[in-house]
Amino acid sequence: MTGVLVMGAGSVGCFIGGLTQLAGVPVHFVGRPRVLGALRKQGLRLTDQDGLDRRIPALDLRLHEEPPTSLRPDLVLLCVKSGATVEAAATLGLTLPLGTPVVSLQNGISNASAAREAAPQLHWHAGMVPFNVAEISPGHYHRGTGGALAAEGSAEDLALAAWQAALARSGMGLQLHADLAPVQWGKLLLNLNNPVNALSGLPLRDELLQRGYRRVLAALQQEALELLDAAHRPVAQLTPLPPRRLLMLLRMPTPLFRLAAARMLRIDAKARSSMADDLAQGRITEVDALCGEIVRLAHGLGRGAPLNQRMQALVQAWPKRRRPYSPAELLKAIGLS
Ligand SMILES: NC(=O)c1ccc[n+]([C@@H]2O[C@H](COP(=O)([O-])OP(=O)(O)OC[C@H]3O[C@@H](n4cnc5c(N)ncnc54)[C@H](OP(=O)(O)O)[C@@H]3O)[C@@H](O)[C@H]2O)c1
Repeated sequence: MTGVLVMGAGSVGCFIGGLTQLAGVPVHFVGRPRVLGALRKQGLRLTDQDGLDRRIPALDLRLHEEPPTSLRPDLVLLCVKSGATVEAAATLGLTLPLGTPVVSLQNGISNASAAREAAPQLHWHAGMVPFNVAEISPGHYHRGTGGALAAEGSAEDLALAAWQAALARSGMGLQLHADLAPVQWGKLLLNLNNPVNALSGLPLRDELLQRGYRRVLAALQQEALELLDAAHRPVAQLTPLPPRRLLMLLRMPTPLFRLAAARMLRIDAKARSSMADDLAQGRITEVDALCGEIVRLAHGLGRGAPLNQRMQALVQAWPKRRRPYSPAELLKAIGLS
């Protein structure tokens, strides 16, 4: 590959872009001054829970505040949060050659289609990142969970196939799917924990070890699964248990859950959903791309999704509260106690 452009150098963009560069591909990072400043000062450091610890010196990083107009990347990775998709896609549309392939490595269901609408002249692929990445300190990104990337496409998409081969050299898997929607819905079900985690104020592991929070998550997932069934939308299994069995696991008493979910609990003690950081820093969250997507699915069926709708409202009302919810408070607030 001659070059990859990361649009949105944050947790996902720096981690996946960094691994791509470590595989020998020139990577250009487009990001905000705060992130670029840190990378210019101390370079990029990538770590993970399996002992990965790699550094790219500042001098070897190609950093930009805007996508350079002269660039002809083989592939672009769109790594901004959902609220920034349209603006970032429009910028890419103005600067990249017609037909440049772009993979949206974003959560939710609709980012690739929103981006396609904003820049129809580019070749959009939906993507899915299964693991958690956090910025531990400026320039240091840590992967706290595992799994292989996924993207919509086939081995005939030459840029995707070349990227897949490059990632494999860095020890990262990329699975190509003709239809990514079942994988995206499977991921969205898991991401319904993001608002629960953000409102708990706790690291992921501590939150999942409290049954009240797990009951909230199971209720949000159950509501979503019933709507997905009604809409005849298949859901891929992304965890060792199928989604409906996962509901039973989540509702178990904590001592049993701790035993049965040992693999699920293999999360760094400090890992949190990035929605928690968004709330802390007063940024717009992705709750509309998660719970909001379930509410839209329900409306399309002429039904409601009251639990997901209430959860979305609680996250949006955070600036007025700014105090974490105990499990009992959260159960009550979404109408489950
Ligand atoms: N982090 C994870 O663990 C994880 C895991 C799986 C999937 N995802 C998904 O991956 C996507 C990215 O998440 P993230 O955690 O990597 O977000 P992030 O850390 O906030 O990184 C995105 C970066 O892109 C910047 N940005 C936004 N618009 C830009 C533009 N037009 N030009 C240049 N930079 C721009 C943002 O700056 P501002 O903040 O100033 O806008 C931010 O620094 C989300 O959809 C998320 O759900 C994240």
